[in-house]
Amino acid sequence: MTLPKTVTIVEMGARDGLQNEHALISTADKVRYIDLLSQTGLRWIEATSFVSPKAIPQLADAAEVFTAIRKVPGVRYPVLVPNLKGYARARSAGADAIAVFTAASEHFTKRNINMTIDESLATFRDVVQAAKGDGVWVRGYVSTAFGSPFGDVVTPAMVVDVSRKLLEMGCDELSIGDTIGVGVPSQVDELTPALLRVVPLDRLAYHFHDTRGTALANLYAALQHGVYIFDSSAGGLGGCPYAPGATGNVGTEDVLYMLHGMGIQTGVDIAKVRAASRFIRGILDHELTSKAFQALEAADLRRTANA
Ligand code: HMG
Ligand code: MG
Repeated sequence: MTLPKTVTIVEMGARDGLQNEHALISTADKVRYIDLLSQTGLRWIEATSFVSPKAIPQLADAAEVFTAIRKVPGVRYPVLVPNLKGYARARSAGADAIAVFTAASEHFTKRNINMTIDESLATFRDVVQAAKGDGVWVRGYVSTAFGSPFGDVVTPAMVVDVSRKLLEMGCDELSIGDTIGVGVPSQVDELTPALLRVVPLDRLAYHFHDTRGTALANLYAALQHGVYIFDSSAGGLGGCPYAPGATGNVGTEDVLYMLHGMGIQTGVDIAKVRAASRFIRGILDHELTSKAFQALEAADLRRTANA
């Protein structure tokens, strides 16, 4: 199959990225980070989470962040919503795009949102119904699609089953997550055709974490099936506090470097993403994991040393 000519990146740094940071980041810094990301050409920036502040204290300021960011025309800013309470909070902050999230693993779903998969689907049915009534765009996540952190078996059929139910309840797009970064390309090759039998190509995204270094290989495998919507995070931030061992999303700079090198367009300026990453690195207590970010930084240092 010929590869897609254009890819849509859904930026995760401000949500999946910051939710996994231990040191508390100020609201002003979160806003600045998102405002920098808004200048990059990204069209989709997941901004924050209206989950329980007890579950994710880092994002307790979701409403303040969401109302303060500069909304660039043409850019959508979805927010995570776990229930009707989160939906009401998101709406009063002005959100017009949300994401609900369940998983293919029962164990993970219980740990993450304290529901069984069926309970989560019942909860989200009400949320999605409210959203559709309000003209709100909805994404549905299926986490742990390639493996569970708790050892329970996940099969492609289980992923497809949850995906079908999310689509049937009215989700506009699905994002299939390798939450703990265990997937390999042969799994992508097996899962993707099965998904595409129930999920239209223009409504399917992949969300690869890079815990074991397989995220770009998985992304390339998905491209070969025509998939063209991918989640990634500036600098490679990310992880789910309820998925032991999970580390960052595939770095946005890494994805851009590979895709642009292959002649695939994204409309996103890697130098501007790097500027956002630099800003957040200055706030965080650790280095960023994106290889392309590191290589570009090192090249700059060499240039400065040689000047
Ligand atoms: P629970 O304790 O079972 O729920 O949590 P509850 O309804 O009994 O509520 C407990 C308390 O939280 C109550 O307050 C509620 O009012 C409050 P209290 O009476 O004790 O003072 N509460 C809320 N407050 C604000 N906003 C809300 C809200 N809901 C309840 N929305 C719940 C269940 C789902 C709420 C909780 O487990 C939760 O918020 N979990 C979110 C966990 C999370 O955010 N995980 C990371 C995101 S998922 C992810 O990263 C994967 C992804 O990236 C894809 C991938 O990688 O695969 C998306
Ligand atoms: Mg994730």
